Amino acid sequence: MRHLVDNENLETTNFNLAGKVALVTGASSGFGEHFARVLAAAGARVVVGARREDRLQSLVSSIISDGGEALAVAMDVTNAASVAAAFDQAEAAFGTVNVLVNNAGVAAPKTVHKTTEADWDFVVNTNLKGAWLVAAEAARRMVSANSGGVIVNIASVLGLATSTGHGIYSASKAGVIQLTKHMALELANKNIRSNAICPGYFKTEMNGEYFDSDAGKAYIESTPSGRLGQMQEMDGPLLLLASDAGSFMNGAIVPVDGGHLVMSI
Ligand SMILES: NC(=O)c1ccc[n+]([C@@H]2O[C@H](COP(=O)([O-])OP(=O)(O)OC[C@H]3O[C@@H](n4cnc5c(N)ncnc54)[C@H](OP(=O)(O)O)[C@@H]3O)[C@@H](O)[C@H]2O)c1
Repeated sequence: MRHLVDNENLETTNFNLAGKVALVTGASSGFGEHFARVLAAAGARVVVGARREDRLQSLVSSIISDGGEALAVAMDVTNAASVAAAFDQAEAAFGTVNVLVNNAGVAAPKTVHKTTEADWDFVVNTNLKGAWLVAAEAARRMVSANSGGVIVNIASVLGLATSTGHGIYSASKAGVIQLTKHMALELANKNIRSNAICPGYFKTEMNGEYFDSDAGKAYIESTPSGRLGQMQEMDGPLLLLASDAGSFMNGAIVPVDGGHLVMSI
């Protein structure tokens, strides 16, 4: 990656991840797949985790054929043993994970009175308990290796605002935001930074059907930018938080939403 050098009065800003080991959860589709490619292109050795291993293997082949280094690990973020086993494999192949992108997530849109306990368990166990299990495992290993590191949690604009039908999801993402701040506080003196990105709406497997519908299109047109985000619009924010370019950012909650959160009321 390039160093962006302005003039003699400005510091060199470094987005390079050479020598870093990055683990991305939920890398079998959507953001996670994209993030893995971006981190590899920035020089990191990348470990990609999720449950659909065939997809992870294709992603690894593609990153390697582009000149990067990558490893696929089967991982269910709701299961502590599965998370620990994935970190063991990552460490054996590449060394201590020092960049975590905690991205795996699910949704089960329903209004509150139609939501079941099973819906709650599905969403909260993946989005919040899963994010905690993975972040805590990463932090334990960074602390014991004295490696320092960065944790980038993928929350959502719905962790900061809410929307009809997204109560449990919003609650889980608000939890991720508080968890991010909590980790930022407790891990700062271990040289571990924790920040969160709050994406607005980007078309992925999670929501593609809705955004292809007339209702979905009308909703997006009503937002300030009038459009969905494009995957590459996440690259700058991701690399800022994952690299030394963001070395004094800790506990930051960064919306990437085209201004969705500042909609007129
Ligand atoms: N797209 C948006 O507009 C948007 C906006 C704000 C926030 N987000 C957040 O962005 C993140 C990625 O979502 P996406 O939009 O890219 O959706 P996606 O394409 O559906 O990807 C979700 C990923 O999470 C993984 N996953 C789900 N449950 C898992 C589990 N128990 N263990 C391990 N991996 C699991 C899935 O992999 P497997 O099924 O293979 O395990 C998949 O790779 C989520 O946290 C989502 O909440 C998305």
